[in-house]
Amino acid sequence: MEKTQTQFEKDVIKGLIDYPKHLPSKYIYDQRGDKLFQDIMAMPEYYLTNCEFDILSLHKTEICEAFSNDEGFDLIELGAGDGKKTKILLKELVDKNYNFDYFPIDISQNVLDELTKSLKQEIPEANVYAKQGTYFDVLSELDKYGNRKKVILFLGSNIGNLLHKDAIKFLKKIQRNMQEDDVLFLGFDQKKHPQTILNAYNDDAKITEKFNKNILRRINREFEADFDLDQFMHWETYNPETGTALSYLVSLKEQNIKIKKLDLQVKFEAWESIHIEISQKYDDAVVEWLAAQSALKPQKSFLDQKGYYKNYIFKAAKC
Ligand code: AVI
Repeated sequence: MEKTQTQFEKDVIKGLIDYPKHLPSKYIYDQRGDKLFQDIMAMPEYYLTNCEFDILSLHKTEICEAFSNDEGFDLIELGAGDGKKTKILLKELVDKNYNFDYFPIDISQNVLDELTKSLKQEIPEANVYAKQGTYFDVLSELDKYGNRKKVILFLGSNIGNLLHKDAIKFLKKIQRNMQEDDVLFLGFDQKKHPQTILNAYNDDAKITEKFNKNILRRINREFEADFDLDQFMHWETYNPETGTALSYLVSLKEQNIKIKKLDLQVKFEAWESIHIEISQKYDDAVVEWLAAQSALKPQKSFLDQKGYYKNYIFKAAKC
């Protein structure tokens, strides 16, 4: 009997027979990829994490006031990760006796278990209901529980890993799950000196290179492929006109790769690329355009001290 293909299998086949070649960056994140991303967030060049940390620390009072209401609210975080930044808000909410429940959503049960464990120790007063699954399945499931105000968090400039058209689709889906009073809190990395951006994705310690190559390592392991990681180099570009940073893996020579489990042979010319990731950078005009396209209204924004990164509060525009 024919085995049905997983989405990962389909995406690998489609991306490697296409021209130019591409692979979706979401497949970088297995256990090793998660760890490498933690290492990236701790790198001096990767300013995004510190900037958002700075914003949340500086403006936590105002942000939490914007979240609150008299009846209490559900704080729902899409892609919660290790919760390092969210803990600033959770501490403030608990200290000020706000009535809220915290729903971290992540695709990885492992990540949620770690987060729940650390929250029990660090902020035992918070009610935490971790939900494993895809963002939209969980969001629509949450609606069934009642209609407390929803505050939806999507931090880390994760939106930047989507092309504008996909970001709009994503925001529209969230918007459709929002009532009049609900709030969406998003992080957007800003356009800045192009060298600062390039350095964030091209660190001297080569952690980003290992992170991107993890997708090939994963294909080797899961599909019995024979990618030689040393025969590919990491290449980053940034276009200041569009605000788009792109990550590629570039083949250093002509080579044939066998992917046994997919019954696939892939030919690379010397210097042929695989596009792995987009990390979009924004300015107010682009954020306002994305919001308008998605029927969202920006309410407030918060800038970090360096002026590198912004968090915005949105409400759903009335139809
Ligand atoms: C998760 N995401 C927002 C990161 C980014 O900045 O695009 C992923 C990343 N890739 C390389 N460094 C970090």
